[in-house]
Amino acid sequence: MSIKRVLSGIQPTSDSFHLGNYLGALKQWVELQDGHDAFYCIVDLHALSAETEPALLRKRTLASAAQLLALGISPEKSTLFVQSQVPQHNQLGWLMECLAGFGEASRMTQFKDKSSKSGADSARVALFTYPMLQAADILLYQADLVPVGEDQRQHIELTRDLAGRFNTRYGQVFTEPSGYILKTAAKINDLQEPTSKMSKSSGSVAGVIEIMDTPEANAKKIKSATTDAGREVRFDEKEKPGISNLLTIHSALSGQSIASLEAEFAGKGYGDFKGSVADVVVEYLRPIRARALELLENEEQLIQMLHAGSEKAKKTASVTLNMAYKSLGLVL
Ligand code: AMP
Ligand code: TRP
Repeated sequence: MSIKRVLSGIQPTSDSFHLGNYLGALKQWVELQDGHDAFYCIVDLHALSAETEPALLRKRTLASAAQLLALGISPEKSTLFVQSQVPQHNQLGWLMECLAGFGEASRMTQFKDKSSKSGADSARVALFTYPMLQAADILLYQADLVPVGEDQRQHIELTRDLAGRFNTRYGQVFTEPSGYILKTAAKINDLQEPTSKMSKSSGSVAGVIEIMDTPEANAKKIKSATTDAGREVRFDEKEKPGISNLLTIHSALSGQSIASLEAEFAGKGYGDFKGSVADVVVEYLRPIRARALELLENEEQLIQMLHAGSEKAKKTASVTLNMAYKSLGLVL
């Protein structure tokens, strides 16, 4: 059996990834490097579909790269690159726009949600065409698997439809990818509002554990996390969402099962348990943050590394784009 190709992307829209991004997605990226041919893309062009400040976009692109490397993405094992450095993404993106119908694009829930927030008239055209660029990201690399969260399922299905339509009309060019929806990945909730997911946009600052935050700040956030009535450390998402969230976090990072954590903290109070969660989180993230800061100190070297990844990506991308151009009758 040939080795499967994996592709995923993440937007450089914040200074730091949070624990939800890591446990919900990036940890799986690291695991999939082994046994797969993995391409990981920092999708800066997608980030431009919302208002961005140039200095911040630059900073966040580099910070994202440094964190991905610090979290364990290895340039030897996988291809880590920046979307805007591989122009084939825009080129195939246009072809996907020529293939997609207005109706199917209008049904994308991410577009509907985001455009309704700003009002349809002031939403950007790029918010509408976003899924076609995402389809290009995936199809250029002939990806078999696309590890993403549940919220991206519809975009992957659109990508499959577009690939199938192209292949039927113009000849076999694209691999139809499968979503690799991360069901087993932990869903991490906000520490202050443990019934909603940890998120930079909707959560409270105090409820979000950031990889680049200081160990002291993160320890404090965990110690002041909302807990529930009673004093028993028990996993029960309905009755005890706060404690259950902390148990999920502890277990995901320490590797200890939830049952054994419940046993360990039986008869002890929430205080002891939170202290232990804080220790686990802080010690897990300490070397990652330190490594990311070290990588950011030598910006030139980091940029070089990204260029090397983008050059590698371009080789694969240009082969696919040429096939697509040729099939469409464009004169090469
Ligand atoms: P975002 O850019 O915030 O949509 O997140 C990037 C990736 O992290 C996506 O694949 C999400 O599915 C994942 N993610 C974001 N927040 C969480 C969370 N609280 N729990 C688990 N996964 C998350
Ligand atoms: N839309 C994805 C998100 O918001 C990011 C993304 C862009 C992506 N291109 C991709 C994910 C290609 C997987 C594959 O999370």
